[in-house]
Amino acid sequence: MLEGKNIILGVCGSIAAYKSALLVRLLVKAGAHVQVVMTPDAVNFITPLTLATLSKKPVLVNYYKTETGEWHNHVELGLWADMLIIAPATANTLAKMANGLCDNLLSAVYLSAKCPVYFAPAMDLDMWLHPATRLNVDKLQSFGNVMIAPGNGELASGLYGEGRLAEPEEIVDFLSSEQKKKLLLAGHKVMVTAGPTYEAIDPVRFIGNHSSGKMGFAIADELAKMGADVILISGPSAQVSKQKSVKRIDVTSAAQMLDACLAHYKNTKVCIMSAAVADYTPAHIAQQKIKKKDAGFNIELTATTDILKTLGEQKTTGQLLVGFALETNDEEMNAITKLQKKNLDFIVLNSLNDAGAGFRKDTNKITIIDRDLQKTTFELKSKDAVAYDICLKVAQLING
Ligand code: CTP
Repeated sequence: MLEGKNIILGVCGSIAAYKSALLVRLLVKAGAHVQVVMTPDAVNFITPLTLATLSKKPVLVNYYKTETGEWHNHVELGLWADMLIIAPATANTLAKMANGLCDNLLSAVYLSAKCPVYFAPAMDLDMWLHPATRLNVDKLQSFGNVMIAPGNGELASGLYGEGRLAEPEEIVDFLSSEQKKKLLLAGHKVMVTAGPTYEAIDPVRFIGNHSSGKMGFAIADELAKMGADVILISGPSAQVSKQKSVKRIDVTSAAQMLDACLAHYKNTKVCIMSAAVADYTPAHIAQQKIKKKDAGFNIELTATTDILKTLGEQKTTGQLLVGFALETNDEEMNAITKLQKKNLDFIVLNSLNDAGAGFRKDTNKITIIDRDLQKTTFELKSKDAVAYDICLKVAQLING
């Protein structure tokens, strides 16, 4: 999977830099063209000569070579790379990356790179657990950079715990499987809905719900990682897509979400509807703020269009439609009714009775029920991991 890829390997000043020799060797063996860029401190841990010999290319450390006047153009390097891997990534370099500092060639290449970025942290346990490092790692992941998680074990300090650089073999396996993943839904157009809808009562009030959009955004990111061309139609949500390729369309009300879905549905191969759409909307929206009265107050509501059901009615052969069911009682029976009524290929059931599942949580526990009423129940997982399970099921159905 790495054959012919242009890879920049950034090596930082950590004792774990000794592992980069094997990493370069494995990448070259896998057929990649490897350009090593070291931080000035990394050369104290492993010589550029070792990495240049293994990569068959001169190692770059500084912006320029004073003796020859040679300039190492970080912008060109950033454009050349199909992927940038920073391993080992020290706490210092992670902090620079997270904050846009570029006081050496590697951090300037990072800022210039347009390709996917992977970072494999290596540091002592306490540095790894420090809130500053946690924040930097979260920030980098929110930029769409992918972490190759450190392992647990004995650290150079003698402490035991998390912070050990992933083994070179694990890093290469991780990169290969990411590449493989990109082929799963390559070339397919998919549509995802996420978040709540807000139904206006007057210029300052609305009827909404607690959906955060986390699950839908995680699904959109996962589909993009699998190579799909993703349109994400989102109700009001503070979430951001980690995958830059996701095309986001913001809507507010159920009626706007319906219009956006209908506008894009015809050309989509897969549609995953995770939005918590309002079933009712005020029959009239007051043009002025409604003033308080002494007596009670009623709002007349009319039913919204069931978007998923509408799409189910228009579904053509080869299109795949997935719905969600968030239930509090008679969960499976309700989910099966929705699956059949809305003409779905499968439904993702989550129950508010499961601890850790539901709105605003970072975890979810799901059961997938398909057209043949085959049921697969998953463990409680992070929403990212749940998104992977759902998208893998989609990829399996698409690819037969
Ligand atoms: N859905 C939709 N349009 C609506 C209501 C729901 O597209 N107006 C979709 C949701 O995105 C979800 C599925 O239908 O994928 C089920 O939504 P849910 O709220 O659980 O079910 P409802 O059909 O609205 O039924 P109820 O509220 O009675 O459970």
